[in-house]
Amino acid sequence: MTPEDFAALLTPEGRALLDSLRDYDPGQELAVATRLRREHPAPLVSAALGQARLRQRAVAKFGAEDAFRMYFTPGGGEMATRASVASYRAGRLAALGVRSVADLCCGIGGDALALARLGIRVLAVDLDPLTVAVARANAEALGLADLIEVREADVTEVDASSYEAVFIDPARRGGRGRIFDPESYSPPLSWAVEAARAAKHAAIKIAPGIPHEAVPAEAEAEWISDHGDVKEAVLWFGTAPGTIRATLLPGPRELLTADPLPDPEAGPVGRYLYEPDGAVIRAHLVAEVAARLDGRLIDPTIAYVTADELRPTPYATAYEITDVLPFGLKKLKALLREREVGILTVKKRGSAIEPEELRKKVKPQGPNAATVFLTRVGGAPSMLIGSPATQPAG
Ligand SMILES: C[S@@+](CC[C@H](N)C(=O)[O-])C[C@H]1O[C@@H](n2cnc3c(N)ncnc32)[C@H](O)[C@@H]1O
Repeated sequence: MTPEDFAALLTPEGRALLDSLRDYDPGQELAVATRLRREHPAPLVSAALGQARLRQRAVAKFGAEDAFRMYFTPGGGEMATRASVASYRAGRLAALGVRSVADLCCGIGGDALALARLGIRVLAVDLDPLTVAVARANAEALGLADLIEVREADVTEVDASSYEAVFIDPARRGGRGRIFDPESYSPPLSWAVEAARAAKHAAIKIAPGIPHEAVPAEAEAEWISDHGDVKEAVLWFGTAPGTIRATLLPGPRELLTADPLPDPEAGPVGRYLYEPDGAVIRAHLVAEVAARLDGRLIDPTIAYVTADELRPTPYATAYEITDVLPFGLKKLKALLREREVGILTVKKRGSAIEPEELRKKVKPQGPNAATVFLTRVGGAPSMLIGSPATQPAG
């Protein structure tokens, strides 16, 4: 899609065409395109069909109400922050008293929109002309154009000193896919850190796999998950240096410390197994969760906590364990047959076996459900069988 194709989508004809495609079935694309081309120019029809597909895909991130009013580029939709995470982060900036933000690397505007929705004035900057046009259209489509100035520029040449905070979300995908080296981000992480240091408040969005050693000493590091999936890490400047935080959405349910506990002891598997949320694991806060549960690890290298009592926790999912066995397919198959388990949830940590492969091999059959954990206990490949425990209120 060129900026010209996109501009055509914003004409009254383009908007009406796109709105008519809200429920269109991409499987019928050829027939729909042929019909529409009788009444509209071919480039407009193909831009509208492409945009309709992108809107459908964006529903998971932005919800139907916004996604069907917004515009996307193929890469921009994928790179955009999901609304739940963007609005949580915008809320943190608002709570710091921030009223204006320079969003350096704004993409299609996922973060800028969330900030403006809290009444924060935003300068949204991106290098790519089509992305800029899309971000501008999104600000208008959601009635936020008064609060968002979208500018086409290289962020490394923008003076953001008049803004109370900067937010930087460097591009972490290139022509060949995901980029893992933070110095290959665009712009590089070292540039973003310097820009953050110069601001009163700053947040840099980065990949959740960032090693803890790479977190600058004066930054707070936060790992954010949404419905159990780890979405991102954020380096905060101007908040609480040295703090490590895991934030679980929805909620937010937060766990933080500036003085992490040492790794917990490992010991025998108790009646309950707790699977910590991914944000807790990435933030290296499993010891904090284990301490709250009076629990221990099942293995020094595995992030499963075990305890003999069931305690409520928002940071982990609890399972009641009925069997702890050395790993063995035959044994597992026999046990599942005996218990008539047909609904088998496979979880793994520290095992190379793929859940689908295991399910195919054991062929579960029957009316009952169970969860099997493929993992290591005290260094030995093991299987733990159990089922989700109903957490006591508290
Ligand atoms: C990860 S996306 C931003 C997504 C955005 N936060 C959102 O939620 O929609 C990164 C963006 O940075 C832009 N970018 C990369 N290098 C840039 C630079 N030097 N100056 C301005 N924009 C840049 C890319 O064009 C891309 O749109």
